[in-house]
Amino acid sequence: MEVKNFQLSIVIPTYNEKENIELLINEIRREVSLARNYDIIVVDDNSLDGTWLKALDLINNNDIVVRRINFKGLSTAIIDGIIFSNKEYIVVMDADLQHPPKYINSMIESAVKKNADIVIASRYREGGGVEGWSTLRLIVSKGATLIAKLLLPNARRVSDPMSGFFMVRRNIIAKNLSKLNPMGFKILLEILERGSPSIVTEIPYTFRSRVYGESKLGVRTIIAYILHVLNLCGWRPIKFGIVGGLGTLVNLSIIAFFKYYLPVLASKLFLLGSSIAIEVSTLFNFIVHEIWTFKDRRIGTPYRRLLLFHLTILPGLLTQLITANIIFYGTSINPIISQLLGILIGFPINYILSELGIWKKGGTYLAVKT
Ligand code: GDD
Ligand code: MN
Repeated sequence: MEVKNFQLSIVIPTYNEKENIELLINEIRREVSLARNYDIIVVDDNSLDGTWLKALDLINNNDIVVRRINFKGLSTAIIDGIIFSNKEYIVVMDADLQHPPKYINSMIESAVKKNADIVIASRYREGGGVEGWSTLRLIVSKGATLIAKLLLPNARRVSDPMSGFFMVRRNIIAKNLSKLNPMGFKILLEILERGSPSIVTEIPYTFRSRVYGESKLGVRTIIAYILHVLNLCGWRPIKFGIVGGLGTLVNLSIIAFFKYYLPVLASKLFLLGSSIAIEVSTLFNFIVHEIWTFKDRRIGTPYRRLLLFHLTILPGLLTQLITANIIFYGTSINPIISQLLGILIGFPINYILSELGIWKKGGTYLAVKT
């Protein structure tokens, strides 16, 4: 598609944004200059301040206001808005002026030039940024982005997988509607992981501060977010932790077995006995990871993975040992708590090495173009 006949809908989810919606629609009309044919689709969840009524006043003939009565939720509002569109591309943006409409022009250019399925407006690309964020909000945002990148292979490929400002080809949504499970706030993550996009581009933008109204993000959003990411990665870290716990049980049971039936391995030859216990539990963990935790990630030969798994046990154990000791001797905290903290810190190291090094995602990755 060429820039001059670019087909675009702009989907704007709203909840109590009466002051903002007027300013935003005016700004869109002033600033979006590259698309001649675009329509605006406001999806309002029956806001108490009557945002939907205000929006009805502002729209043109081809625009739509959806007033949902018995539904609430940002991601489902966005998907519903996209379903109402018949254009090739959709821009999703917030109503609160934090996503400046002028960037839609660069998004259009990028989509056309690279034939992109998704164009992300990114705060974390060079030239982008955030305005007026507290250190706490910055830490929460960066932390959430890091979690997504650790657990989700497609999120790893882009700089701002948490962006609420993006453009998507309608087909990506239409074709994958039954696969998408729009929970929580982060619909872009869902689309990146389940929409099978092949080309993604990013343009930098600066996230503005809110003038009117307040953010609907709260502690519940953070919990919903973690559940969302766990869902998207098939609960892998939880499975990994369960296997680790079972492996420890296997290890201890073997020692107990030796103590009663082969006492020499639990006394004079304890080094041999405990080595056997460690090796058997390592094999146990490996097999369960192969057939359960990472069953969709078995690429190449199992021997290579088995060897790497043995190698990665060591750094995790070492981290665990060192932290437990530093905490115990440095702060004289209860040894059980020190050991527990050691395990908690060693665990992610083991997990990260397994996720990124042993059971890597195979097949085709999405291509990120700039
Ligand atoms: N229809 C509908 N239903 N709209 C909603 C709902 C809902 O339940 N909850 C929020 N919205 C609308 C708001 O009215 C606003 O237009 C937009 O969704 C974003 O909501 P905010 O409450 O302003 O969220 P935020 O600024 O804290 O978070 C934004 O920035 C994040 C990046 O840090 C969102 O864009 C996030 O998606 C984004 O990740
Ligand atoms: Mn906002």
